[in-house]
Formats: sequence, C-alpha cells, structure tokens
Amino acid sequence: NRGEYPHFMLKEIHEQPDVVAHTLLGRIAGEKVDLSHELAWTPEETEKWKKIHFVACGTSHYATAAAARIMETLGNFEIRTEVASEYRYRNIPIDEETLAIFVSQSGETADTLHAARLAKNRGARCLVITNVRGSTIHREVGEAIITPAGPEIGVAATKTFTAQITALTLLGMYLAKLRGELSPASERRLISALMDIPGKLATILSKEREIEALARDFADARGFFFIGRGLAYPPALEGALKLKEISYLHAEAYPAGEMKHGPIALLDKELPVVALVPKNGLWEKTVSNIEESMARRSPIIAIATESDEEIRHYTSHIIFTPETEPELYPFVAVIPLQLFAYYIARQRGCDIDMPRNLAKSVTVE
Ligand code: M6R
Repeated sequence: NRGEYPHFMLKEIHEQPDVVAHTLLGRIAGEKVDLSHELAWTPEETEKWKKIHFVACGTSHYATAAAARIMETLGNFEIRTEVASEYRYRNIPIDEETLAIFVSQSGETADTLHAARLAKNRGARCLVITNVRGSTIHREVGEAIITPAGPEIGVAATKTFTAQITALTLLGMYLAKLRGELSPASERRLISALMDIPGKLATILSKEREIEALARDFADARGFFFIGRGLAYPPALEGALKLKEISYLHAEAYPAGEMKHGPIALLDKELPVVALVPKNGLWEKTVSNIEESMARRSPIIAIATESDEEIRHYTSHIIFTPETEPELYPFVAVIPLQLFAYYIARQRGCDIDMPRNLAKSVTVE
C-alpha cells in the first residue's frame, strides 16, 4: 500500500530515516558496535583475512563502493569491489585468506549467487548482506546480516541502499574493532554520527519541493554528468543509475579527477553537471572541476554542505545537505539525488515504479 504517495518509489525514499534507525537497532550497545549475535567471528580469525572482496550488482555494488571507502578510513584493509558478473569469470585469487562479502537486496540475483558459490568452493569465508531472510543466497551462504528495510516495491532501489550502507558501515567498524584497529574515540564519534543520520535524512526530505523545482528546470536536458571524489563518488554513481533507470536519460558518473581524460569532450550547455562537492579536504579539487565544466558552458547543479557559502560563487542551483562526519557523506548525498531522479522522471511522464526493460530481481545471467 503506497498510502498518500503517488508512487512506491517516493514512499520508499521517505521511509529512509526509519530504515536507518531500524538497521542500527540491536547492533549498537552503549556507544559501541556489536554484531556478535550475527557474526561468530573471533579476533584471531579476522586477522587471517588478508583480502576483503565485495561482490554485488547494480545499486548493491555502489553500496559496496561506498563501504570500501568508509572502511579504508577505519583500518588497514585490502579491499576490492567487483560486480558479480565480472568476479565470476575473471581469474581473481580467492582463498582461505579471503573474506568475501556478497550484497544483494533480493538475495536472488543470479550472478551474485554464482559468485558466492565460486568463493565458497575456493575456501573463502563468505558473508551475505541481504534484505530477504531465507532468500537463496542467505540459505546458501549461511552467515548473514539482514537489513530490515522491509519489502521494496519500486524497481529502483532506494531505501535498501541506505540500509545496506548502514549495515556495511557497522560491519566495517566491527571488523576494524576485532582487529584492534578502531580506536574507542573513533568508535564513539562514528556511532554518535550514525545515530544522528535519521534526523539528517529527514532534514533533506523536508527540502523535497526545492528539489522538485530544480528537477522541473532541468527535465529537458539531453543527459546528465555526475562528478564526485572519494566518498562523494559512490553516491554520484548511484545518482546517475537512478536517473538512467527511471527517466531513460543518459547519465554518467565519473570520479571528478578523471573528467579531463576524455569525458570532458561531452560537455556543453545542454549537458548539466551534477557536482557532489562536500566541504572536506577535496573541496578545492572538485571546485576546480566545476570551473572546468563551467568553461564548457555546462550548467552546474551542486550538492554542497550546509555551511558552504562559497559555493554560491559558482552556481545558483544548489542543494544543501547537512554536515556529518566525513565517512558518512554517502548517506546525506544520496537522498537529494534519489528525489532529483524521481522528479525528473515524473516531469517526463515515465512509469516510475515499473521502468521499461527492468525487473526487480535479475534471476538469470
Ligand atoms: O537484489 P540485488 O541487490 O542483488 O539487485 C541488484 C541489482 O539488480 C539492483 O540493485 C538494480 O541495479 C536496481 N534496479 C537498482 O535500482
């Protein structure tokens, strides 16, 4: 039942503050992360895992791209993120020293399931993050973290992405802690920031009308280019995927620094650039990419941090997101991008909950 909402996608976007709160529930004790009732991991065995492989498809893959960047800030991890259909057919060394983490909302994605079978056969320790208890991948892998996002009806994943990044952040913290790499101060800082995330997401959702107006201004664009660096790159990927899926517009995400290696040739006044430019150590670098785009007459839409007044020098199309700890930026960045894609698709009269050519879960190769 979509209640007062015209589409399931919009309802699911609005459920995200609750979904994050539910995903945290029972996994935090005091100001500490505790996954011991889900993961029977000992500190000794976690030290054996030299390699961490994240394997998934689509939005779940982008959640792992965010997770990898978050985890790299927490400890000394050697992480690779692969789409399942590549992982299966490449000759990637997988062995007893590998922790392979499979992420699948549905738990039924054929490529992810086959990749999990492969890793299991090679002796890797396997773990699944899924939204469906008892799904095929859950039954086969066994060890799991279940995201409590509830059924997602819209074909475009929204609330399950935020549930996944919540679970993956907790997982990264827990692993770093078992290995003795997470300081109590960092643990406290991140737990308190995670608990604040639902409120911050609600703040962004309250700007819905603003985002709708922005989408109205840009609904006739030829396509969109998304740029971001570091922790801003995975939400850029996810924002572009949402637009492609439901508005059928071409949207491409690039690490901002990669622009001048080719894609900048695409830019002109009909190709807006959505720049994810959080106020962090990479701000100047991304702003220089914004300037390069402006020089090619691309309109700029900035996703910027609340306190960032300087960004107004570069564009008047700005969505401000609340400040958070740098590691948690993907949480606040993805919400405006979901809403932006939703309202562009609505302007264009698209079938938002059931976009053409797509199925909710891809059970064939
Ligand atoms: O159920 P899964 O998480 O394994 O699904 C993976 C992808 O098929 C899925 O995320 C797809 O990309 C969505 N349509 C994204 O909105």
